[in-house]
Amino acid sequence: MSTCRVCAGPVEEFFDFGRQPLSDAFLPPERTEDEFFYRLAVGICQTCTMVQLMEEVPRERMFHEDYPYISRGSAVMRSHFETLARRFLAGELHRPDPFIVEIGCNDGTMLGTVADAGVRHLGVEPSGGVAAMAAQRGVRVRTDFFEASVAADILANDGPADVIYAANTLCHIPYIDSILKGVRELLAPDGVFVFEDPYFADIVERASFDQIYDEHFFLFAGGSVQAMAARHGLELVDVERLAVHGGEVRYTLARPGTRTPSPAVADLLAAERREGLTEPATLRRFGTRVERIRQRLTEVLDDCHARGQRVVGYGATAKSATVLNFCGIGPDRIDFICDTTPAKQGRLTPGSHIPVRGPEAFASPYPPYALLFAWNHADEIMAKETAFRAAGGQWLRYVPEVHLA
Ligand code: SAM
Ligand code: TMP
Ligand code: ZN
Repeated sequence: MSTCRVCAGPVEEFFDFGRQPLSDAFLPPERTEDEFFYRLAVGICQTCTMVQLMEEVPRERMFHEDYPYISRGSAVMRSHFETLARRFLAGELHRPDPFIVEIGCNDGTMLGTVADAGVRHLGVEPSGGVAAMAAQRGVRVRTDFFEASVAADILANDGPADVIYAANTLCHIPYIDSILKGVRELLAPDGVFVFEDPYFADIVERASFDQIYDEHFFLFAGGSVQAMAARHGLELVDVERLAVHGGEVRYTLARPGTRTPSPAVADLLAAERREGLTEPATLRRFGTRVERIRQRLTEVLDDCHARGQRVVGYGATAKSATVLNFCGIGPDRIDFICDTTPAKQGRLTPGSHIPVRGPEAFASPYPPYALLFAWNHADEIMAKETAFRAAGGQWLRYVPEVHLA
């Protein structure tokens, strides 16, 4: 048991992935001996149903100068953020000289559009390397962890925010009390707090257990977010299912009574209840599927190895750390993983020590099998790698089950 980071209720563990490294700690080849490990296990609060990790990793170990993830790595995500920025600009800015704040602005992909429109904004981003990229892009950025004291400081300097936004960031933050306290203070009276993160119901439906890793401290659902918002004097007024990143929900919170809740909120909550999303039997079934995927994936890789068939990985995602370390897959099964992110190339994957190479390595020559770790970007990747299949290659996938495509 651990204590819920939202309501202090008891958290009951439902799956243990064992000893895991930091998911984004790609290692220089000469520095493999001083890796940090922790126990990755996931549980559910018996009081508020928030799904969360049983252990937390200190934030400075994950988010620092060398944090490698960049938002601009996917064309689909670039367009996703531009569309949303335009929606904020057109629909949410009702006061003169409005102000937009982004928590975890990363390389400035979303706020770049806001900056180009000449609208007042601030990105709060603790990871120095990506924050510098945002500044380079013309985004005003504060290199800091967002929390209540930082929110108070922003309010004093810039005044209230019409929109506070966080993508794939809120679920990374165990000290969520401080975040929501800060958001509530910083938000203009009729402002909105919008955030989007992987949806627990999609994770359960697809058995996409690789969404569970150090940075994904919370796995949100409509029910748990509604309860969390209420504790902090905010109301869940809208939800939107998103296809990106393997299935997410975009939640909109506002001060109670300032917005009419959309029917989509009640629909999502009803669906979660109908499907028994937080029931023990559902969580047990999830665990059984995860074990089956581990078994099948290691069998297929062992078989390729026995037949002398090369397997290359595609996308050195943070998600892949859970798969590789949980399944015990190393460089004897996967030659290398190709990835477009400069800060990952030339390094080794955390824990499993598989080399990461640039995307050009994929075709020279094509392997017979490619294990698709960046399955959430499948459409984009398939569209640009058509020559791989034309050359006889096959994609090995493990979501929602192990299969060749
Ligand atoms: N929003 C971007 C996107 O969706 O592509 C980046 C998401 S990235 C997975 C998570 C980001 O959250 C990292 O850039 C990290 O440095 C940042 N982060 C972590 N804790 C934070 C905090 N307390 N305040 C602001 N940003 C934080
Ligand atoms: P993500 O699943 O956390 O967004 O990470 C995706 C990883 O996959 C990231 O390291 C970039 C990489 N990637 C490629 O190598 N090629 C691609 O075409 C795309 C879309 C992503
Ligand atoms: Zn709780």
